[in-house]
Amino acid sequence: MNKIVIAIDGYSSCGKSTLAKQLANALNYVFVDSGAMYRAITLYFLRNKIDNDNPQAVQQALQNISLTFKFNAAKESSDMYLNNENVEDLIREMQVSQNVSKVSTLKDVRVFAVAQQQQMGIAKGVVMDGRDIGTAVFPDAELKIFVTATIDVRVERRLKEMVEKNINTTREEVKKNLEERDFIDSTRAISPLKKADDAIVLDNSFLTREEQLTIALQWANEKIYSN
Ligand code: DC
Repeated sequence: MNKIVIAIDGYSSCGKSTLAKQLANALNYVFVDSGAMYRAITLYFLRNKIDNDNPQAVQQALQNISLTFKFNAAKESSDMYLNNENVEDLIREMQVSQNVSKVSTLKDVRVFAVAQQQQMGIAKGVVMDGRDIGTAVFPDAELKIFVTATIDVRVERRLKEMVEKNINTTREEVKKNLEERDFIDSTRAISPLKKADDAIVLDNSFLTREEQLTIALQWANEKIYSN
Protein backbone atom coordinates (compact mmCIF):
# COMPACT_ATOMS: atom_id res chain seq x y z
CA MET A 1 0.00 0.00 0.00
CA ASN A 2 1.39 3.40 -0.96
CA LYS A 3 2.00 5.91 1.79
CA ILE A 4 0.81 9.48 1.34
CA VAL A 5 1.54 12.90 2.83
CA ILE A 6 -1.27 14.54 4.77
CA ALA A 7 -1.11 18.33 5.26
CA ILE A 8 -3.29 19.88 7.96
CA ASP A 9 -3.56 23.67 8.19
CA GLY A 10 -5.78 26.11 10.02
CA TYR A 11 -6.03 28.92 12.56
CA SER A 12 -4.60 28.69 16.07
CA SER A 13 -6.19 26.20 18.47
CA CYS A 14 -8.72 24.70 16.13
CA GLY A 15 -7.64 21.13 16.83
CA LYS A 16 -5.11 20.64 14.03
CA SER A 17 -2.57 18.81 16.19
CA THR A 18 -5.23 16.62 17.75
CA LEU A 19 -6.49 15.60 14.33
CA ALA A 20 -2.96 15.11 12.96
CA LYS A 21 -2.04 12.90 15.93
CA GLN A 22 -5.24 10.88 15.59
CA LEU A 23 -4.64 10.28 11.89
CA ALA A 24 -0.97 9.41 12.39
CA ASN A 25 -1.90 6.85 15.08
CA ALA A 26 -4.67 5.31 12.99
CA LEU A 27 -2.49 5.04 9.89
CA ASN A 28 0.79 4.29 11.67
CA TYR A 29 2.30 7.43 10.15
CA VAL A 30 4.74 9.95 11.63
CA PHE A 31 3.14 13.05 13.18
CA VAL A 32 5.01 16.36 12.89
CA ASP A 33 3.91 19.48 14.79
CA SER A 34 5.55 22.19 12.65
CA GLY A 35 4.38 24.91 15.06
CA ALA A 36 6.59 23.37 17.77
CA MET A 37 9.61 24.14 15.58
CA TYR A 38 8.67 27.83 15.28
CA ARG A 39 8.00 27.90 19.02
CA ALA A 40 11.43 26.39 19.83
CA ILE A 41 13.14 28.94 17.57
CA THR A 42 11.19 31.69 19.35
CA LEU A 43 12.26 30.36 22.75
CA TYR A 44 15.90 30.49 21.62
CA PHE A 45 15.43 34.07 20.34
CA LEU A 46 13.85 35.17 23.63
CA ARG A 47 16.50 33.54 25.79
CA ASN A 48 19.32 35.02 23.73
CA LYS A 49 17.63 38.38 23.17
CA ILE A 50 17.91 38.10 19.40
CA ASP A 51 16.72 41.24 17.63
CA ASN A 52 14.12 40.14 15.04
CA ASP A 53 14.90 43.23 12.99
CA ASN A 54 18.60 42.41 12.64
CA PRO A 55 18.94 39.87 9.78
CA GLN A 56 22.56 39.10 10.61
CA ALA A 57 21.76 38.32 14.23
CA VAL A 58 18.86 36.14 13.09
CA GLN A 59 21.04 34.20 10.64
CA GLN A 60 23.75 33.75 13.24
CA ALA A 61 21.22 32.51 15.78
CA LEU A 62 19.75 29.98 13.35
CA GLN A 63 23.21 28.49 12.83
CA ASN A 64 23.28 27.71 16.54
CA ILE A 65 19.89 26.02 16.63
CA SER A 66 19.36 22.31 16.31
CA LEU A 67 15.77 21.06 16.36
CA THR A 68 14.83 17.42 16.88
CA PHE A 69 11.72 15.48 17.77
CA LYS A 70 12.12 12.56 20.17
CA PHE A 71 9.39 10.05 20.86
CA ASN A 72 8.04 10.11 24.42
CA ALA A 73 6.62 6.63 25.06
CA ALA A 74 4.63 7.70 28.14
CA LYS A 75 2.77 10.36 26.14
CA GLU A 76 2.72 8.36 22.92
CA SER A 77 3.85 11.46 21.03
CA SER A 78 7.05 13.31 20.23
CA ASP A 79 8.61 16.06 22.33
CA MET A 80 10.42 19.04 20.83
CA TYR A 81 14.14 19.31 21.64
CA LEU A 82 16.11 22.53 21.22
CA ASN A 83 19.86 21.86 21.19
CA ASN A 84 19.23 18.55 22.99
CA GLU A 85 17.07 20.10 25.71
CA ASN A 86 13.46 18.96 26.05
CA VAL A 87 11.49 22.21 25.64
CA GLU A 88 8.08 20.67 24.97
CA ASP A 89 6.44 22.35 28.00
CA LEU A 90 8.39 25.64 27.87
CA ILE A 91 7.35 26.35 24.27
CA ARG A 92 3.65 26.28 25.23
CA GLU A 93 4.01 29.15 27.71
CA MET A 94 2.40 32.52 27.07
CA GLN A 95 5.64 34.40 26.47
CA VAL A 96 6.46 32.13 23.54
CA SER A 97 2.86 32.25 22.28
CA GLN A 98 3.00 36.03 22.32
CA ASN A 99 6.18 36.21 20.23
CA VAL A 100 6.01 33.20 17.92
CA SER A 101 3.91 34.75 15.16
CA LYS A 102 6.30 37.68 14.84
CA VAL A 103 9.35 35.39 14.65
CA SER A 104 7.51 33.22 12.11
CA THR A 105 7.20 36.13 9.69
CA LEU A 106 11.00 36.22 9.19
CA LYS A 107 12.17 34.87 5.85
CA ASP A 108 15.32 33.19 7.18
CA VAL A 109 13.35 31.50 9.94
CA ARG A 110 10.86 30.10 7.43
CA VAL A 111 13.55 28.89 5.03
CA PHE A 112 15.29 27.17 7.97
CA ALA A 113 12.14 25.44 9.25
CA VAL A 114 10.60 24.55 5.87
CA ALA A 115 13.78 22.83 4.62
CA GLN A 116 13.73 20.52 7.66
CA GLN A 117 10.01 19.88 7.34
CA GLN A 118 10.37 18.91 3.69
CA GLN A 119 13.10 16.40 4.64
CA MET A 120 10.68 14.75 7.03
CA GLY A 121 8.20 14.20 4.21
CA ILE A 122 10.52 12.60 1.68
CA ALA A 123 9.71 9.05 2.74
CA LYS A 124 5.96 9.92 2.90
CA GLY A 125 3.79 8.38 5.63
CA VAL A 126 3.69 11.75 7.37
CA VAL A 127 0.92 13.87 8.88
CA MET A 128 2.12 17.43 9.43
CA ASP A 129 0.10 20.29 10.88
CA GLY A 130 0.78 24.02 10.66
CA ARG A 131 -0.16 27.09 8.66
CA ASP A 132 1.57 26.66 5.31
CA ILE A 133 1.90 22.90 4.99
CA GLY A 134 -0.51 22.47 2.07
CA THR A 135 0.57 25.70 0.36
CA ALA A 136 4.36 25.91 0.83
CA VAL A 137 5.86 22.86 2.58
CA PHE A 138 4.04 20.10 0.69
CA PRO A 139 2.16 21.70 -2.21
CA ASP A 140 1.89 18.19 -3.73
CA ALA A 141 0.49 16.50 -0.61
CA GLU A 142 -2.04 13.86 -1.58
CA LEU A 143 -4.48 15.00 1.12
CA LYS A 144 -4.86 18.55 2.43
CA ILE A 145 -7.27 19.37 5.22
CA PHE A 146 -8.06 22.93 6.32
CA VAL A 147 -9.48 22.79 9.86
CA THR A 148 -11.76 25.50 11.22
CA ALA A 149 -13.78 26.11 14.39
CA THR A 150 -15.55 29.16 15.81
CA ILE A 151 -13.45 31.56 17.90
CA ASP A 152 -15.43 30.77 21.07
CA VAL A 153 -14.86 27.05 20.70
CA ARG A 154 -11.17 27.64 20.06
CA VAL A 155 -10.77 29.87 23.13
CA GLU A 156 -12.43 27.26 25.35
CA ARG A 157 -10.22 24.48 24.04
CA ARG A 158 -7.03 26.49 24.48
CA LEU A 159 -8.01 27.65 27.96
CA LYS A 160 -8.73 24.07 29.04
CA GLU A 161 -5.36 22.95 27.68
CA MET A 162 -3.55 25.69 29.60
CA VAL A 163 -5.43 25.09 32.84
CA GLU A 164 -4.56 21.39 32.59
CA LYS A 165 -0.90 22.35 32.27
CA ASN A 166 -1.18 24.72 35.26
CA ILE A 167 -0.35 27.71 33.08
CA ASN A 168 -1.68 30.87 34.67
CA THR A 169 -3.92 32.80 32.22
CA THR A 170 -7.39 34.24 31.66
CA ARG A 171 -10.06 33.74 28.98
CA GLU A 172 -9.49 37.32 27.76
CA GLU A 173 -5.74 36.82 27.46
CA VAL A 174 -6.20 33.58 25.53
CA LYS A 175 -8.74 35.16 23.16
CA LYS A 176 -6.53 38.19 22.53
CA ASN A 177 -3.52 35.96 21.81
CA LEU A 178 -5.47 33.75 19.38
CA GLU A 179 -6.86 36.73 17.49
CA GLU A 180 -3.47 38.43 17.30
CA ARG A 181 -1.75 35.29 16.05
CA ASP A 182 -4.48 34.60 13.48
CA PHE A 183 -4.10 38.14 12.19
CA ILE A 184 -0.29 38.05 11.92
CA ASP A 185 -0.27 34.48 10.52
CA SER A 186 -2.79 35.24 7.79
CA THR A 187 -1.46 38.65 6.74
CA ARG A 188 2.30 38.04 6.71
CA ALA A 189 4.13 38.48 3.39
CA ILE A 190 5.76 35.04 3.17
CA SER A 191 3.53 31.96 2.95
CA PRO A 192 0.62 33.36 4.96
CA LEU A 193 -1.97 31.04 6.43
CA LYS A 194 -4.57 30.37 3.77
CA LYS A 195 -6.55 27.42 2.53
CA ALA A 196 -4.83 25.69 -0.39
CA ASP A 197 -7.14 25.59 -3.41
CA ASP A 198 -7.26 21.79 -3.25
CA ALA A 199 -7.72 21.52 0.53
CA ILE A 200 -10.91 20.10 2.04
CA VAL A 201 -12.47 22.18 4.84
CA LEU A 202 -13.26 20.43 8.12
CA ASP A 203 -15.27 22.55 10.56
CA ASN A 204 -15.01 20.68 13.85
CA SER A 205 -16.81 23.23 16.09
CA PHE A 206 -19.52 20.74 16.92
CA LEU A 207 -17.78 17.44 16.26
CA THR A 208 -16.39 15.08 18.87
CA ARG A 209 -12.80 13.88 18.45
CA GLU A 210 -14.13 10.51 17.29
CA GLU A 211 -16.43 12.10 14.71
CA GLN A 212 -13.67 14.26 13.26
CA LEU A 213 -11.35 11.26 13.03
CA THR A 214 -13.98 9.16 11.25
CA ILE A 215 -14.47 11.87 8.61
CA ALA A 216 -10.77 12.54 8.04
CA LEU A 217 -9.85 8.87 8.03
CA GLN A 218 -12.37 8.24 5.29
CA TRP A 219 -10.77 11.02 3.19
CA ALA A 220 -7.31 9.57 3.87
CA ASN A 221 -8.32 6.04 2.94
CA GLU A 222 -9.89 7.25 -0.31
CA LYS A 223 -6.54 8.83 -1.24
CA ILE A 224 -4.45 5.87 -0.04
CA TYR A 225 -6.44 3.30 -1.99
CA SER A 226 -6.67 5.38 -5.15
CA ASN A 227 -2.97 6.19 -5.11
O1 DC B 1 0.52 25.48 15.72
P1 DC B 1 1.00 26.46 16.78
O2 DC B 1 -0.11 27.31 17.34
O3 DC B 1 1.80 25.81 17.85
O4 DC B 1 1.97 27.45 15.97
C1 DC B 1 2.62 28.52 16.62
C2 DC B 1 2.94 29.62 15.63
O5 DC B 1 3.93 29.17 14.72
C3 DC B 1 1.79 30.14 14.79
O6 DC B 1 1.11 31.17 15.43
C4 DC B 1 2.47 30.61 13.52
C5 DC B 1 3.71 29.75 13.43
N1 DC B 1 3.61 28.67 12.44
C6 DC B 1 3.89 29.00 11.14
O7 DC B 1 4.14 30.16 10.83
N2 DC B 1 3.89 28.03 10.19
C7 DC B 1 3.62 26.76 10.51
N3 DC B 1 3.65 25.82 9.56
C8 DC B 1 3.30 26.42 11.85
C9 DC B 1 3.29 27.41 12.80
